[in-house]
Amino acid sequence: MTSAQPAFRAIALSKAYGKRLAVDHLDLQVDRGELFGFLGPNGAGKTTTIRMALGLVAPTNGSVEILGMEVRHNRSKVLPRVGALVESPALYGYLSGRNNLRVFADLLGGVSAKRIDEVLEIVSLKGREQDRVKTYSMGMKQRLGLAIALLSNPDLLILDEPANGLDPAGIVEMRDLLRELAGEGKTVFISSHVLSEVQQICTRVAIINHGKLVRLAPVAELLDAPGEFEIQVDSPDTLVSALKLQEWGREARVEDGLVITRAPEGRGRNLISFLVQNGHDPDSVSERQRDLEDIFLSLTGGDS
Ligand SMILES: Nc1ncnc2c1ncn2[C@@H]1O[C@H](COP(=O)(O)OP(=O)(O)OP(=O)(O)O)[C@@H](O)[C@H]1O
Ligand SMILES: [Mg+2]
Repeated sequence: MTSAQPAFRAIALSKAYGKRLAVDHLDLQVDRGELFGFLGPNGAGKTTTIRMALGLVAPTNGSVEILGMEVRHNRSKVLPRVGALVESPALYGYLSGRNNLRVFADLLGGVSAKRIDEVLEIVSLKGREQDRVKTYSMGMKQRLGLAIALLSNPDLLILDEPANGLDPAGIVEMRDLLRELAGEGKTVFISSHVLSEVQQICTRVAIINHGKLVRLAPVAELLDAPGEFEIQVDSPDTLVSALKLQEWGREARVEDGLVITRAPEGRGRNLISFLVQNGHDPDSVSERQRDLEDIFLSLTGGDS
């Protein structure tokens, strides 16, 4: 096995529950060191895919390879190298955070006492590690789940909705933590239906809907296209008519009283020149921020 092996690979992966295809011929590859987002609305098939990746559920068809190894037949070799957090972690509420880690460390085997301190430190639970888990907040439980996932110092982290139940500050913390882990060379695969979340930390994303891959692209690429501007102007309809005569302005339209259009060569200053030269002096021109939410809706036809 070489480091050229992808961290994660789904090959024509499918899972049927009765007649329903939860995952439908999914092909996906995640390279080492990527911070990869796996996006989709509720019921899209994210958790089912992750369960198959962890060997918890058998695929109906196709397979998953992790670090170059087919999962179903190499569970004992694969699993120690993967840290996973699937939906809410199964924690022992009456035990302390530290003792929960001890239990999972014993199950894994070969985890040093020092590593338990390290993971407590990484997820910032130091100081609360003696408290019973049932007294933890949702965010603390989520962080303890991540600490468990980190016990074996895995090469690949598979996290199903890691931001679940976290408040905005907790989300920022989790984001920083995942970035740090990726910075250390770990591959981080996170699923989410919270698009803005993934947009901020992932380098590449796969978007799935109804079990099928809808789009696979670098986040930057999704956010770049198609680059539109918002113009505030006295007579929006007149301007739209003028813009539509231009090659670059064919998709011009009015939304909420603002004119939305692309710009000549994609440049705002060219757009402003055009407006001024043609007697449509604008009150303001600003570049439109598209977030993944918009892109997602346009890709999935808004049927999420
Ligand atoms: N054990 C099961 N038995 C029957 N159907 C299932 C089972 N697990 C999942 N499904 C179905 O498979 C589809 C995909 O579910 P899955 O949990 O993978 O979606 P998800 O993308 O993780 O959604 P969410 O964002 O809500 O977590 C859904 O239609 C779901 O009802
Ligand atoms: Mg899920």
